[in-house]
Amino acid sequence: MTEFKHISVLLSECIDGLNIRPDGIYADGTLGGGGHSSVIYSHLITGKLIGIDRDIEAIDAASKRIGKAENIIYVHDNYKNIKNILFNNNISGLDGALVDLGISSYQIDNAERGFSYTKDAPLDMRMNQSDPLSAYDVVNTYETDKLAKVIFDYGEERYGRKIADSICKARAKKPIETTLELAEIIKSAVPAKSVPKGSHPAKRTFQAIRIEVNGELADLKGAVTDFFECLNPGGRLCIITFHSLEDRIVKHVFADFASGCTCPKEFPVCVCGKQPQGKLISRKPILPSAEELASNSRSASAKLRIIEKL
Ligand SMILES: C[S@@+](CC[C@H](N)C(=O)[O-])C[C@H]1O[C@@H](n2cnc3c(N)ncnc32)[C@H](O)[C@@H]1O
Repeated sequence: MTEFKHISVLLSECIDGLNIRPDGIYADGTLGGGGHSSVIYSHLITGKLIGIDRDIEAIDAASKRIGKAENIIYVHDNYKNIKNILFNNNISGLDGALVDLGISSYQIDNAERGFSYTKDAPLDMRMNQSDPLSAYDVVNTYETDKLAKVIFDYGEERYGRKIADSICKARAKKPIETTLELAEIIKSAVPAKSVPKGSHPAKRTFQAIRIEVNGELADLKGAVTDFFECLNPGGRLCIITFHSLEDRIVKHVFADFASGCTCPKEFPVCVCGKQPQGKLISRKPILPSAEELASNSRSASAKLRIIEKL
């Protein structure tokens, strides 16, 4: 098995942001290699940590790194089920939670998981390998319009239609089986001069297919809402996003919890009665420092938003 290598992004900013109490109860919705969780755990004395990941290999790696103890619970599940997960573990509320979105470097580097456009492997991209939909299904069975929309929306790829047409033309001859076959088809559909220097023509399309396969954006709004609702008063929710579509969702959900009255301005008095339920810890997202950017290029697109429950 590939070694679990992943550099945690915005680590000290998350730890500061969580304002950890040694007796508090914390959840990490995206345990990964346990980088953030191992530091959260080191701040606890009588507190508890619940670490969730939908990838069983991440659960194995993190539990090896942090160890097994009574006050740490590892859960192989989707974080969107946070309410059930807490209920099943007799936890009534959280003093803090972290969600570090996207995939880990381990998942990308481990060629057979099929996330990488530079390593040949069967088209898979499932974070949870028991999930029914794989990248193979998206690439080989989606109708052209649906495929073009996935690539355009989730990859923010202006050549989404052209790429979808090329994929459908290729798969009419034979199914597209591997990551490199797909990467070549994308490369031939994208004008070389439109690809930013140092980037790969298949980067955006692979991101789009991965988001579709794992339902990443479809589940996010509900999950962020549920995590916030699970917080105890004073509890904090930290969310790290890696692209604008995710950040937009988090920003809007947080803004909604942090805002009061929504009555039209011309109303003389409030009739909606809406009160803020949360307080934004920083109005603007927190970005990686120059040092972090220099040492971990993956942090380049990271944004951290933090909200505290009132
Ligand atoms: C960026 S990594 C987390 C890295 C971790 N914070 C660390 O420092 O080691 C994201 C992890 O979240 C997991 N993940 C993504 N979406 C998930 C979901 N909906 N439910 C549970 N885990 C998810 C992925 O499998 C991956 O292991």
